[in-house]
Amino acid sequence: MTRTLWAVSDLHVTFAANQAIVDKLSGPHDWLIVAGDVAEKIPDIVRAMKSLVQRFAKVIWVPGNHELFNRKSDRINGKARYRALVGELRAIGVVTPEDPFPVFGPVTVCPLFTLYDYSWRPLGLTAKQAIERATVVLDDELAISPYVNVEQWCRERVEYSQARLDEVSGPTVLVNHWPLVVEPTHRLRSRDVALWSGTDLTRDWAVKYRAQMVVHGHLHIPAETRVDGVSHVEVSLGTPFDPPLPASFASRPWPFPVVRV
Ligand SMILES: [Fe+2]
Repeated sequence: MTRTLWAVSDLHVTFAANQAIVDKLSGPHDWLIVAGDVAEKIPDIVRAMKSLVQRFAKVIWVPGNHELFNRKSDRINGKARYRALVGELRAIGVVTPEDPFPVFGPVTVCPLFTLYDYSWRPLGLTAKQAIERATVVLDDELAISPYVNVEQWCRERVEYSQARLDEVSGPTVLVNHWPLVVEPTHRLRSRDVALWSGTDLTRDWAVKYRAQMVVHGHLHIPAETRVDGVSHVEVSLGTPFDPPLPASFASRPWPFPVVRV
């Protein structure tokens, strides 16, 4: 029997059209990677993930920026919000970046959460200057950064993830909401968005940690980028409001088959 490790991201299930697509995902013997941006509210995220847990043998999740969005009325926010989410998802059987890395056939699947630190910015500008000059600013500036020091949290997450990855041997599949290398952001219509899209600190991870493939989301541009001989594949579903993709992207499989055994 063939089993497949599938990957998706940016399900944004609060859009009814997206929920209808997600409802069709199923693979009782397969595993599913969900690389962030399921929804914004914790009950919506948990509900969507629970329905996927019932339809796949294993579901692996990493947070996106939308999972980390806080509203003023929320009781828990910032890092506590992430911890709460991990607790709720673990309780329904989802594998999170805080759990032992699962092994699928020949590869160790490594769910990561490394955030961003504004390092993908124009030369000569500080992070603050780059944000002030940006013509497109992500909601993260209103819904995440007032509640936590994002740059510091990014450094902490990078250190934690590196320590975890140092313990792994053999081939890996690295999974992160934000790209691990800057190149995929070169396709963005607005380069400003790169500020909120990753960190230089993860640049050598794909090679260093023997990645067979890197799976990411975030940009809503489901393309493949080869860097240092490794494929970095964006697996996002996106939203009905995203600009149409170039025709060359149309034939990319979704969900994306990462490994078949
Ligand atoms: Fe997204």
